[in-house]
Amino acid sequence: MERDHIRAGRLSEDRSADIASFLSSMDADRWIAEADLLVDIAHVTMLVEREILDKEEAQGMMRILLDFVEKGVPAEAFDIRYEDIHAGIEACLIRAAGEESGGRLHMGRSRNDEVATCIRMRLREEVIGLMGELAGLRDVLLDLAAVHQETIMPGFTHMQHAQPTTLSHHLLAFEAAFTRDFERLRHAFSRINQSPLGAAAFASTGFPIDREMTAKLLGFAGVEGNTMDAVSARDFLLEAIADCSILMTHASRCCEELIVWSSGLVQFVELPDAFCSTSSIMPQKKNPDTAEIMRGKAGTVYGSLVAALATMKGLPMSYNRDLQEVTPNLWKAISEARSSIRLLSGMYAGARFNRERMREESGRGYSTATDLADFLVREYRIPFRTAHTIVGRAVKKGGINLMMLERAALEVKGISLVDMGLTEDMIRNALDPVHAVAMRRGPGGPSPEAVRSSVKERRRLVRRDMAWLEGIRHSLSETKASLLRKAKEMLS
Ligand code: ARG
Repeated sequence: MERDHIRAGRLSEDRSADIASFLSSMDADRWIAEADLLVDIAHVTMLVEREILDKEEAQGMMRILLDFVEKGVPAEAFDIRYEDIHAGIEACLIRAAGEESGGRLHMGRSRNDEVATCIRMRLREEVIGLMGELAGLRDVLLDLAAVHQETIMPGFTHMQHAQPTTLSHHLLAFEAAFTRDFERLRHAFSRINQSPLGAAAFASTGFPIDREMTAKLLGFAGVEGNTMDAVSARDFLLEAIADCSILMTHASRCCEELIVWSSGLVQFVELPDAFCSTSSIMPQKKNPDTAEIMRGKAGTVYGSLVAALATMKGLPMSYNRDLQEVTPNLWKAISEARSSIRLLSGMYAGARFNRERMREESGRGYSTATDLADFLVREYRIPFRTAHTIVGRAVKKGGINLMMLERAALEVKGISLVDMGLTEDMIRNALDPVHAVAMRRGPGGPSPEAVRSSVKERRRLVRRDMAWLEGIRHSLSETKASLLRKAKEMLS
């Protein structure tokens, strides 16, 4: 490689490999190399359209830039002796096109607006990708929720048997959380998708550039107004990592549950072999390693968020090189989140839920005691607190049956339920988990009837969201194609 052309004027050459590699963002810049070419192309196109640059002056470098797009960014541009990919690409461009043309690329801009633009463009793609994974996961959960509308299972609070529910209801709870994660990213997307290009170092430029034009060429919805903010803001990225952190909380809770549910003690689910590992010594073992690693990854993603926040918090206006240290946290967080959500979908899709075990447990632990209390309220117009105390006392005395309830009622309230007409049959009926679930048919509730209409409604939402994603993907790829078409026209 030649010496770094950016340093050539002002600085001497004596720099150890140690310093060079400390300074270089090259590793993380692999994420934005391709975006950088598009930013270059849009910038040059705009300079020509605004007659800041002659077509003839631009043609040489445009030819090379298009060549790079076609064949990929040259390996040499990634040499860590360049401070970053922006310097690397410019150097390769100048070498191939000559300084007479290539040396004009960087007029009216800075690496500060350049890098912010590249990050936003790449992040835009990643967010759309992550939202696609989330929509897929929602779809898988809805498939399962549709299958398990009648699968009765125990619901838990404090990890204790609480009240029976349906597996469908339980899965729809996670689906609702992942839908909010999707929504959060959609909002983040609208803030990411604003162009900082043209802000230059921070003070914009005296050249009569057209920021609206480059924004449009690159598919941004608008322009970041204040040019100082445009180069120094990274909250769009913090927000994306925060969103990844929150969704990893949900993924981790799913994993925790799959781990517990697949244990020999619970046996509610069997995970697909592909997502499990075995032991090097205990030949019988089937361990839920994917779920465990994913639960761990949540911690890694939170780490990225804290690292990024901590790096940002002390920075004065406007660009400071510390910002370079923030970006890799973004790529780490978003790639971990994407693969986690993808694998979680696969894990759920291949999981086999054990209906019998769930049914068996659904009535355990007096899980329908509330329904009995409700029955007493309805049947005998006893205040709920009174019924709650009577049933609770019967449980404390050793069980729910007519004799215990009668004793409890006499003991705590001095009333006879038998005199009121309570029979063993009525108690058995009130305690039936299937009946208890069927009663809860209000919207959002667990009854087969309620979950059936929830599944239907949620399907409609996920279809709508998938269509939205498809529209964005389509318009981004159209924008790219039209930018490249425009650039090619310049060569003729
Ligand atoms: N690699 C740098 C970053 O990630 C690009 C911007 C460099 N700007 C500068 N003034 N040195 O932030």
